[in-house]
Amino acid sequence: MDTPLIDPFARPINYLRVSVTDRCDFRCVYCMSENMTFLPKKELLTLEELDRMCSSFVRLGVEKLRITGGEPLVRRDIMTFFRSMTRHLDAGALKELTLTTNGSQLSRFADDLYAAGVRRVNVSLDTLNEKKFADVTRWGRLPQVLRGIDAAQAAGLRVKINAVALKGFNEDELFSITEWCASRDIDLTWIEVMPMGDIGNEDRIGQYWKLDDLRARLGEHYTLTDLPERTGGPARYVRLEETGQKIGFITPLTHNFCESCNRVRLTCTGELFMCLGQEDNADLRAPLRNHPRDDGPLEDAIRAAIARKPKGHDFDYSRQSVDGRVSRHMSHTGG
Ligand code: GTP
Ligand code: 5AD
Ligand code: SF4
Repeated sequence: MDTPLIDPFARPINYLRVSVTDRCDFRCVYCMSENMTFLPKKELLTLEELDRMCSSFVRLGVEKLRITGGEPLVRRDIMTFFRSMTRHLDAGALKELTLTTNGSQLSRFADDLYAAGVRRVNVSLDTLNEKKFADVTRWGRLPQVLRGIDAAQAAGLRVKINAVALKGFNEDELFSITEWCASRDIDLTWIEVMPMGDIGNEDRIGQYWKLDDLRARLGEHYTLTDLPERTGGPARYVRLEETGQKIGFITPLTHNFCESCNRVRLTCTGELFMCLGQEDNADLRAPLRNHPRDDGPLEDAIRAAIARKPKGHDFDYSRQSVDGRVSRHMSHTGG
């Protein structure tokens, strides 16, 4: 490995999130607009280019690779890319290869993912009610996702549910979702909704549900014990003593975790976003395409980008308006 990537605030960068497509078979209301225009295919990095990009990051010390989208499993031939990353796991350079998915295609791919070296998957699921699921995803079908989760567990993959906390939407399911996860030995993490894309609209502010409040409600029913552990992600965890299960909280708004940030995000067109909550990005596609046989310029561009990683995001829900809104949709950088 070359000298590791360290940003200006002395944070080692060892986690790369890669969005392999901007497309998705759902349209979650807080993530995409109803009529998204998707990129022409020629704009996308090819699977070979994605391999070169990720391999350069691994050479520069990235140990955790999370594949996202859009929905990563709708990209044609995506398993070829997963399988190409297995060599970095085998070599010990990469410690974890994983993905964040909406679960819709998991029943088709679970076994192949396991065979490629994936051991954990994060599945986005905000409700266990079929009608509400169809509403929040605009047309998704819950049973298909539940079958995907079953297939993932049957294949030996550890499943974590990511639920976006939405006031007036899944507040009433706090206990049913918790118990459903406990009964299936599934981890659960709640996420504070971030003001990105359409979520910046004033009428969405009312859906923002502070995780301190959610946690307090959980505490009325269960005994919560704070856990010190981190998984290399931003979540903080508690254990529910009555069920033994671990619940995570991702709180970009109320408890900023930027001081321990270890990640950057690559989009499917080769832009590198140094922070989810900032617009600044670096073009890595040009150095990649202009030098097909030399990774040196690409790796110089990666180092230069890391050298301007900002201290943190400026997301902020003020009383009646959203400050620090990012107009980019979440699907662009994959969460
Ligand atoms: P684990 O490996 O399971 O800890 O995963 P993770 O939390 O890194 O990834 P996951 O895809 O489960 O992240 C869940 C969500 O948390 C993301 O989709 C984002 O919405 C949010 N999130 C993750 N990383 C960041 C970050 O660096 N900044 C902000 N503001 N939000 C983040
Ligand atoms: N705020 C918080 N989380 C979001 N996600 C998508 N959009 C938002 C948002 N505006 C989550 C999804 C999924 C992950 C990729 O990002 O629910 O878990
Ligand atoms: Fe698709 Fe995930 Fe965005 Fe929903 S949150 S539209 S499933 S990428």
